[in-house]
Amino acid sequence: MRLKAVYDFVNKKLLNVPDDERRHDLYAHINGVANFSSIFALKRKLDPQIAITIALLHDIAAIIHNSYDDHAHLGAIIARDFLTALGSYTDDEIDIIATAIQRHTSDPRGFQRYDAILSEADFLQPYLHHFEEPKSAFGKNKLKELFAEINIEWVSADISGT
Ligand SMILES: [Fe+2]
Repeated sequence: MRLKAVYDFVNKKLLNVPDDERRHDLYAHINGVANFSSIFALKRKLDPQIAITIALLHDIAAIIHNSYDDHAHLGAIIARDFLTALGSYTDDEIDIIATAIQRHTSDPRGFQRYDAILSEADFLQPYLHHFEEPKSAFGKNKLKELFAEINIEWVSADISGT
């Protein structure tokens, strides 16, 4: 199955991250984004496999280079090269995947549907992981809106139990 090859590729790169804490955070982040992405893809009648592939590869440049400098652009190149060599994604799918990775740190106004899923899942994951509320009113609204889409009512940060 083609998703397994993507998981294997990303997991191998993650194993090379020397710092234990950082490796854990990246692992939790990537998998959290993949889970949110598949849920939103299903909700929006898109292909969850494509959304998961995007999520798994979206921070690949940051994982490999240990830096977020230009990681969206560099990650799109790495993803495109990897998926082309893998041979189990069509050219159109590779374009969608690379484009979403390339755009995930840019202005959402030009987003296509998969670009939006990545950006939104990337935004949501830290709140699920740390149970913190966004600081800005914009962030709070966005969080509420996205959870409402999947029928979850966001109560408050109290659910962390801390
Ligand atoms: Fe991310």
